[in-house]
Amino acid sequence: MKRAIYPGSFDPVTFGHIDMIERSAKMVDELVVAILNNSAKNPLFSVKERVSMLDEITCHLPNVKITCFDGLLIDFARKIEATIIIRGLRAVTDFEYELQIAQTNRIINSQVDTIFLTTSLEYAYLSSTIVKEVASYGGDISHFVPEQLMERIYEKYVTIQNPMDVKN
Ligand code: PNS
Repeated sequence: MKRAIYPGSFDPVTFGHIDMIERSAKMVDELVVAILNNSAKNPLFSVKERVSMLDEITCHLPNVKITCFDGLLIDFARKIEATIIIRGLRAVTDFEYELQIAQTNRIINSQVDTIFLTTSLEYAYLSSTIVKEVASYGGDISHFVPEQLMERIYEKYVTIQNPMDVKN
């Protein structure tokens, strides 16, 4: 059984992530999409919300599982017996950091390899940070995320921008 992990923050998941999930799921028996549970990153969405969004948008992919992890990714890989880590490369700017992490992980556990996929060109510019920036100004995010997630993203900013709306 060839099991891979596709780790990330997914805060929120974008079309770029979905493209990576669909392509990498074809290469392995099981793809575990693993959400980093790290409150230090001050995420917009809770882990529970992110699991739920990823569950919804990957329900057409039978060999994809959604979960979360904390601590080191390489320890989580060992725990779930995954031998491959999948990461996406959008541009040269991603490469240096990703290479360093991949090499560090391989030093810690040489049984796990990192495979880099280049993101599809139409999503090369896209990041969760960009989605949040556009959504925070009420801009159109329909090119970046699935329609069924849009309302959930905008709702976060309604609460943030109108704190008086929040009932005590
Ligand atoms: O979507 P992101 O934010 O680029 O994902 C980054 C992630 C979650 C893959 C990375 O931060 C990670 O693996 N964090 C867990 C801690 C770890 O193992 N760090 C690398 C060794 S220094």
